[in-house]
Formats: sequence, structure tokens, C-alpha cells
Amino acid sequence: MKVIKVKNYEELSRTAATIIAGVILSKPDCILGLATGSSPVGTYDQLAAMYEEGILDFSHVKSVNLDEYEGLARDHDQSFGYFMDQLFFSKVNLKEENIFLVDGAADAAKQEKRFNDFLKDNKIDIQILGIGNNGHIGFNEPDSYFTASAHKVELAEETIKANARFFEKESDVPRSAITMGMYGIATAAKVILVATGAAKAPAIKKLLESDHVDPQLPCSILHICEDATVIVDKDLYELTK
Ligand code: F6R
Repeated sequence: MKVIKVKNYEELSRTAATIIAGVILSKPDCILGLATGSSPVGTYDQLAAMYEEGILDFSHVKSVNLDEYEGLARDHDQSFGYFMDQLFFSKVNLKEENIFLVDGAADAAKQEKRFNDFLKDNKIDIQILGIGNNGHIGFNEPDSYFTASAHKVELAEETIKANARFFEKESDVPRSAITMGMYGIATAAKVILVATGAAKAPAIKKLLESDHVDPQLPCSILHICEDATVIVDKDLYELTK
């Protein structure tokens, strides 16, 4: 697992976007694994800018998102599908038929199957990850075991509290989600995790301290990924020492 220390959020976003751009340029029909939340927003801005400048072409790229809240349809303004539409898909030339999103409003068991069928047929070339304060990746919450397949998950109290900032009130945050499991993440050819902010320091500290693969620290699966890179800003890195 490589660690890249950067000055600030802007450099973090540029670094992540550069790595993703390298994959798209060398494989124009690559499969991008995407995340939502605050952490990758700058990365998506950078990728959209590279598209605007004519450096990147997404017309053959496929994408798959890590997760979706149960109960929220793509047109709900707090759904991850909506987030992706607003902040990325509307700014690049990814084709609608090449975008895989879980439909949070549809039957969860059917969506899990659809997600697992997709992952069986489509190996991710590069997966971008944020990290929860508790070390979750996707919505794989700390537990006594890892779940390999895409699955429905009850969100941890800590995650509900952390994500309440996106909703009017905490009680509006959905209690469950469908997430990619560890199979999709661990079999990606490349994984990059972007982390910024003091709240992530305890989880990043544990991740950097040992190579134990511990389901209580879901991000520790990165230790067995073929090509994993963690990008952290200087302030956060200082807090892990
Ligand atoms: C989002 C996701 C989550 C977030 C994590 C960090 O698709 O899968 O794991 O990456 O909760 O969120 P932010 O970046 O908002 O701190």
C-alpha cells in the first residue's frame, strides 16, 4: 500500500484525478469505481476540467458507484445518484447506458442481485474511495467479518451522525443502504483512497500503523489490494504520528 502525502485538499484532488486520468488514457473503455461524499468532490472537478480541456474522453468509460441509500430514488436530492448527476455525470460525456447505479427506491434484494451480476461481469480498473470516521469504505461498516458480495447494510450510528450534515435533520438520514462489498473493492486493479480532515485521523492512523486486515477497520482491506494508494493531506498525516 502506497501513501502519498500532499499539501492540501486541492493537491489531493489533483493527485487522485491524475491517477484516474492515467487509467482512462491507457484504457479508454475502463471501468471506474466511484464514491460519493465530500472527499472526492475536488477529484470530480479536476476530471471534469480535463474533459473540458479535451484531455479526457469518457465516451467509452463505464462507471459503477459504491453505494446508495435504501429508499432514495435517483431524483431525490440526497441520493448518491443525484449527487453523481450534479457533480460529475452532467459535466462529462459518460453515456447513460454505461453508468451503473443502485436504485435505492427499488426492491433491495433485486438490486443486490443486479449489483452482484454487474460486478461478476465487470472488473473495476480503478476504484476511488473516501473513508468514514470509523474506517468504513463504501458502506462496509466495522463488524466481526467482511462481506464479500454487494449487500444491504444497516448504517452505524456514527455514520448516520456524520452524514446528517447533508440532510435537514438527523432523522431524515436513511438507516440502511446497499453497498458494494469487499469483493468488488479488493479485486479492483487499482484502488485510491482519499482522506482529509482531522475526524479521519484515528482510522488512518490505525491503517498506517499495521498491515493487519481487520473487519473492525474495513479500510484495512487495502492491505491485500493489488495496487492501493492512500492520499492524505499534510494536516491529517501529522495527526497520525
Ligand atoms: C460514499 C461512501 C462513503 C464515504 C465516507 C466518507 O459513497 O461510500 O464510504 O466515502 O463516508 O464520506 P466523506 O467523504 O463525506 O467524509
